[in-house]
Amino acid sequence: MDSRVIKLTTAAHKHGNLNIRTCGLGFFPKGILGGSTKAKLGNEITVKAEGLPDYIKTDIPTDRNTGRPRWIFRRRSWVKKFVRYHNLKPNESVRIKRINEKTYEVIPENNNGQGSTKQRLRKTTGTRQVTSEERRVEIYQKHFDPTKASDVTHDTPLERLNLNWREKDLREKERTKHVHRLHPYLGKYIPQLVEIFLRKYFTPGQTVLDPFVGSGTTSVQANELGINSIGYDVSAFNILLARVKAGKYDLIKARKEVLDVLNKVRLATQIDKRQAKLFVEDLPDELKELLSETDSEYLKEWFAPRALRELLTYRYFIKIGTYYYLDLLKVILSRSARSARLTTHFDLDFPKNPQRGPYWCYKHSRTCSPIKEAFKFLRRYSLDTLMRIEEFARVRTDASVELYHADSRKVRIPPIDGVMTSPPYVGLIDYHDQHAYSYHLLGLPRNCHNEIGPASKGRSEEAKRQYKHDIAAVFHRVLDAMKSGGHLVVVAHDRANLYSDIANSIGVEVEDIVRRHVNRRTGRRAGSFFESVYIWRKR
Ligand SMILES: C[S@@+](CC[C@H](N)C(=O)[O-])C[C@H]1O[C@@H](n2cnc3c(N)ncnc32)[C@H](O)[C@@H]1O
Repeated sequence: MDSRVIKLTTAAHKHGNLNIRTCGLGFFPKGILGGSTKAKLGNEITVKAEGLPDYIKTDIPTDRNTGRPRWIFRRRSWVKKFVRYHNLKPNESVRIKRINEKTYEVIPENNNGQGSTKQRLRKTTGTRQVTSEERRVEIYQKHFDPTKASDVTHDTPLERLNLNWREKDLREKERTKHVHRLHPYLGKYIPQLVEIFLRKYFTPGQTVLDPFVGSGTTSVQANELGINSIGYDVSAFNILLARVKAGKYDLIKARKEVLDVLNKVRLATQIDKRQAKLFVEDLPDELKELLSETDSEYLKEWFAPRALRELLTYRYFIKIGTYYYLDLLKVILSRSARSARLTTHFDLDFPKNPQRGPYWCYKHSRTCSPIKEAFKFLRRYSLDTLMRIEEFARVRTDASVELYHADSRKVRIPPIDGVMTSPPYVGLIDYHDQHAYSYHLLGLPRNCHNEIGPASKGRSEEAKRQYKHDIAAVFHRVLDAMKSGGHLVVVAHDRANLYSDIANSIGVEVEDIVRRHVNRRTGRRAGSFFESVYIWRKR
């Protein structure tokens, strides 16, 4: 990617003048020079300044008397915000990158090895730092409202997208609509983001691929829009969950099966043994054994005895029954198990050790005790699951959904029209580990060693090199299955700046990069960050 480094002068801080003389005219598209006033604009380019939410459309003005370029951007109020955001000083440098003929990106150059903007901000003394609140205020001062997914069409310009939703713009209820909250999954993207790019780049009847399909967000949203989808994931539990979410159900039959198992477990575990005799003539010997013991050390360690008995009873009944929707029942069991673990309320994602006694709960600001039972969750999630699959059935189409348990570096991909995906990121999450309880309870095959960029391998330079290599290997296969001109939409919080190298190595055209502010409100990973949506095109 072509780029130029330019030095900041005091004029940048005072007047927003970025001296771009050293870039030379050849670095910009023809026709960029405009007149001396706004009355005669040249062909504008789009400038993205790292850390700022708005894209800037600007040309380069010329001098009224001489007609020569003035070597600054005409639009420049953003420059002051940019230097303040990154805490840049006069004589420090910024890099201007040409992403494509009409799109440029401005980023701070690594000034004297002082590290990232965040580190620089932390090191600063004496100068006032930009608070995160100020940064957020800037972000939400867009000139137009956050985008409503259903309004997007092929013709919606990318620069008109505002993906910085606040809670009041996009409520949790909508973000977790129908099957999207069938089971917790750390690392999924929100359905509205997927919907926007599916509407922009695909038409009903086409086929979208997600090589890292996770919990199936892409498949569900594609189906809702009548777009066929193919998804791969290396984790068996994720594929089970994705299939259950995107599945088509005979709702009466599903309801009958879900309530049937629940009732059996209730009779076997919830009522007095003498009463139970009236309902369950004779509990099979096998069940009696199962209820009292399991050889899984993990399960014995992570569940209170009563909770474990209830979960194992449920597992027993779905195993011996002849249920058509067995996978749906497995997901109810898994979700209940997750809630019934011996954990604190505030660390459900990656608890390190079982919590056996009372503890001070940061979430509820009081002393809480760990869960001892599981049946209440089995009941709650059975009913919730039925409601959610019924809700999805109302918007489900007959578009095909194919989901495979596979390593995307090794699959042979059938013809597709494009890609919508959020890949795993280097050193961030162990995708098998987050559902360890399911693997133990359901006896699913583990394929952890084939996960790309797992947290367990860290973020060393070697881990990053391997990550780029693996992600590129997947995209090489993907590109082989696409026609030229097809789009790949890739969502990543690329804090180590790896995706420009990946794009280069696979030879795609970078059509655009849309940034959005993400504000996670709950959980151990609460906090805000910027996420990038890379829009690539096969050449
Ligand atoms: C960020 S998550 C995707 C989440 C998904 N977009 C969703 O909304 O549920 C990345 C996924 O990539 C999967 N993955 C990691 N390595 C893989 C590989 N070699 N082949 C296929 N999938 C892989 C992980 O199991 C994980 O589910």
